[in-house]
Amino acid sequence: MSIIIKGGTIVTPTRSYLSDIKIKDEIIIEIEQNLVDSESEIIDATGCLLFPGFIDSHTHFDLDTGYTRTADDFKTGTAAAIIGGTTSILDFATQNKGETLNEALKNWHDKAKNVSSCDYGFHMAITEWNEDIKKELESMTNEGITSYKAYMAYDSLRLNDGDIYTILKALKKYNGILGVHCENGDLVNTFIKEQLKEGNTSPSAHPLSRPNKVESEAISRYINIASLAESPINIVHLSTKEGIEEVIKAREAGQKVYVETCPQYLLLDDSLYVNEDFEGAKYVLSPPLRKKEDIEMLWQALSKGYIDTIGTDHCSFNLEGQKTHGINDFSKIPNGIPGVEHRPVLIYEYGVNRGRITKEQMCGLLSENVAKLFGMFPKKGVLQVGSDADIVIWDTKKQGIISKDNQKQNVDYTPYEGFKTTGKAKHVFLRGSQVVKEGSIINSNSGKYIKRGETNV
Ligand code: URP
Ligand code: ZN
Ligand code: ZN
Repeated sequence: MSIIIKGGTIVTPTRSYLSDIKIKDEIIIEIEQNLVDSESEIIDATGCLLFPGFIDSHTHFDLDTGYTRTADDFKTGTAAAIIGGTTSILDFATQNKGETLNEALKNWHDKAKNVSSCDYGFHMAITEWNEDIKKELESMTNEGITSYKAYMAYDSLRLNDGDIYTILKALKKYNGILGVHCENGDLVNTFIKEQLKEGNTSPSAHPLSRPNKVESEAISRYINIASLAESPINIVHLSTKEGIEEVIKAREAGQKVYVETCPQYLLLDDSLYVNEDFEGAKYVLSPPLRKKEDIEMLWQALSKGYIDTIGTDHCSFNLEGQKTHGINDFSKIPNGIPGVEHRPVLIYEYGVNRGRITKEQMCGLLSENVAKLFGMFPKKGVLQVGSDADIVIWDTKKQGIISKDNQKQNVDYTPYEGFKTTGKAKHVFLRGSQVVKEGSIINSNSGKYIKRGETNV
C-alpha cells in the first residue's frame, strides 16, 4: 500500500516549496505536485510544513551514573522523541572502565532493541584508551559507529590531552569524528572544593564552580590539539560567548570545527539557580546555564551559520529521589536535564516564530546537517526520492503550553514549564509507517538501529 501526503510545503535548508510526497515500503518514491493514484491512501497536509524527521544527536537514555540511573530509558525516551517529531536519535554508548568498546556497544544494543519508538544509533564514548581499544575502531566502524565522544571533565570519564590527540590521529583512517565535552576538569574540581569550603552547598554554587573560561579554555585547547593532529572535530553542547569566539577564530583560520549547542543554552539563564529552596537543582547540568549575553551570542552564531547542530543532551533525573541526592552538596546532584520531546517546538517557537532563524535553518540544524555530519545522509535528514520516509507534518498554527503534566518524558519536571509554543508535529511517519496521528502515538517500538556510514567532514 502506498501513501500520498498532499498539499504540504517541503522544507529544505535552502528553500521551501509546495509538493506532494508518495511513499512506498519505507521509502519516498515520488515528489511532485498534484500526484494522483486511486490505490494510495491520501494524507491531507494542506497548510502544513513537511520537515525531514528531526534527528537528535545527543541523548543519554538508560545511563547508569554509578549511584543512579537516568529517569528515561530507550522505551520512554524514544516515545517522547517521536511524539515531538524526532524520528532518529544518537545516544552515547559509554565504555565503563575495564570494558572493551565492543562490550559497551553490546550493552547499548541490549538497552535499545525492541523497545525504541524511533530509529537510533550510537556514538561511542571512550573513557579508557590504549593499543587494544585502538584496534577496536575497525570493528566499531564495521558496526556503524563512526562518531565518538571524549570527556575533558568528570573524573570517572575524562581522558588526558595526549589520549585525545592519539584518538584523533587513529580516527583518520576511518573518517571518524570525535566530539568532546570541553570543560577543564582540574579547574572544575578545584572550584567545587572552593565553593564547598565557603559553605556554598546549594545548586546556586554549580555555575560558580564552572565559569565560562572553564569551557572556553578547554575549547581552545581542543582546537589546538586538533590542529596538531590535523583533524576535523566536533564540540558538543557549547554554551558560552567565549567558546563560540574561539570556534569562529579557528574556522576563520581554516580549521574544520563543528559545533553543537542545545535548547537550554538558548532559552534558559543562570538566574534559575538562585532560589531559596532546592528548585535550582532542576537546572544542574554541565556545562551550566549561562548569562543573557551568552544566549544572545549563541542565537547570532546560529543565524550566521557558526553552529551546525542543535541536540538536546537529554539526560533526565527526577527532582524527587534523584536530584535530591545532592541536597546537602550541589556537587552530588546528578548532572543533566530532559528535552528530547520539546526541542522541535522550542526551536520553532523561539527561533523561527521569533525571527531569530528561518524554518530552512531549523531544517538544517535539527535534521540535514546532523544526518550529514554523522554519516546518515541521504537516507536520513532529507525529503528526496530514495530517502527513508521519515516525515514530520508540522501544523504551524497549533498552540501549546509545555508542562510536566502533559509530557511523555518519564521525569517529574520539565525545565520549560509554562513555555508557550505555536507549531507542533501533527502526523509523524517513520520509514513510511505512520507512528504519530493528530499528536498521539499510534505505533510504538518500531524503531530500528541505524548502521551509520563514514562521517561527512
Ligand atoms: O550534565 C550533563 N550534560 N549530563 C550529561 C552528560 C554530558 O556531559 O553530556
Ligand atoms: Zn558532555
Ligand atoms: Zn551529553
